[in-house]
Amino acid sequence: MSESFGQSLPRVAAPLPGPRAAALVDALARTECPALTARRARRAESSGASHDPIVWARARGANVEDVDGNVFVDLTSGFGAAAVGHGHSRVVAAVHAQTERLLHALGDVHPSDVKVALLSRLAGLAPFPEARVILGISGADAVEAALKTAMLSTRRPGVLAFTGGYHGLSYGALAECGYQAAFRAPFVEQLGRHVTFAPYPAAGGAESLEQALAAVARAWDAAPLPVGAVLFEPAQGRGGVVFPPRGFLAGLAELTRERGALLIADEIFTGLGRCGATWLSVAEGVVPDLVVTGKALGGGMPVSACLGRREVMNAWGAPGGEAIHTSTFLGHPLACAAALATLEVMENEQLADRAVRVGEPFRDRLRDKLAAHACVRSVRGVGLLLGVELDGGARGLRLVRRLLERGYLVLPAGPDARVLSLTPPLSIETELLDGFAAALDEALTEDGP
Ligand SMILES: Cc1ncc(COP(=O)(O)O)c(C=O)c1O
Repeated sequence: MSESFGQSLPRVAAPLPGPRAAALVDALARTECPALTARRARRAESSGASHDPIVWARARGANVEDVDGNVFVDLTSGFGAAAVGHGHSRVVAAVHAQTERLLHALGDVHPSDVKVALLSRLAGLAPFPEARVILGISGADAVEAALKTAMLSTRRPGVLAFTGGYHGLSYGALAECGYQAAFRAPFVEQLGRHVTFAPYPAAGGAESLEQALAAVARAWDAAPLPVGAVLFEPAQGRGGVVFPPRGFLAGLAELTRERGALLIADEIFTGLGRCGATWLSVAEGVVPDLVVTGKALGGGMPVSACLGRREVMNAWGAPGGEAIHTSTFLGHPLACAAALATLEVMENEQLADRAVRVGEPFRDRLRDKLAAHACVRSVRGVGLLLGVELDGGARGLRLVRRLLERGYLVLPAGPDARVLSLTPPLSIETELLDGFAAALDEALTEDGP
């Protein structure tokens, strides 16, 4: 193993947070919107463990160092954004070179050369020929671009989305959020009523594929407005690392075609190699009409994209019309430069293949290692989108903390936090994953039955 920062095993001194982080967290609580501080208090109450954060100071590869000098292994890759590893040297060099040339251009009016280059590169990644691309800054931006495109193209306002689905929290995306009622409840009076939720089936569940598809068709039949778009994740990440049964996505695509709606694949978490392919939906035999990507795309910089079939995107109108979907920082040069470098790194380092080569044997070793713990309900995943399901959310939250104390950053997933989601950089060394498996085994023993 290399002991260099980037692929190091953790080095953590108790207590966490350390003194510097604790002072910064206090300062944060005095200035940050209270929603986030309140969430920590709530989690502490429900799990009996502290949820005060550490404060990040630097990160490279799979490692994060906090302001107290503790070194962690990041099994979240920063919400999936650092799939090529934190601060990849190629990405950093590309951003640095771009800062010397051009920080900001005139988005849709006078674009930058680097934006043009990124659009060509993204169009080449699309699962259909002659794709047209709308850039965004967040994942939610890209989802909203796809929803607007579907509305323009079909003129049917209804959207079919899924229970457990997560697409971001801006108003347009929140309307399709089937993840937790709490996210929508305070705003429900201001959310579009055009969304119908269908149940998202889990592989290995009690119902058959036919039953799962029939439930979708029933939900669709009950939609209050004609449905023009079906928005789905090929696997739900934040929703609890849930993979649908084989054949479900193909059946969904068939139903969508029969009914003349458009299929929008939200590949913001699953795409760009995390599950072993550029697009998981395509690997599962489904070619969507629109596909949205984000997170990993910028290598840590904020950029997202909606890729659409040319005939669908043509609904935006003839060139020369008013640009009715744009923003000040659209196609930001630094983010475009970072995305181009990130896509090059993914290809050069063959990270999609690596995700499967490293991730799936690790998943199987982890399953064996945890077999004796009765509270572990399942260890599942594809590539390096992995989840460990426990017997309840309080345990999930406690385990997240116990793992942090051992130097491993993981996030809880699923509506009640009972799933530990493991989405490390695709370049992570096996030794770090095995270190995590040993730490989780220990933490589960410490947590008790
Ligand atoms: C599948 C999926 N779609 C959309 C989003 C929203 O992305 P963002 O937080 O960048 O708006 C996320 C974020 O976790 C996601 O997992």
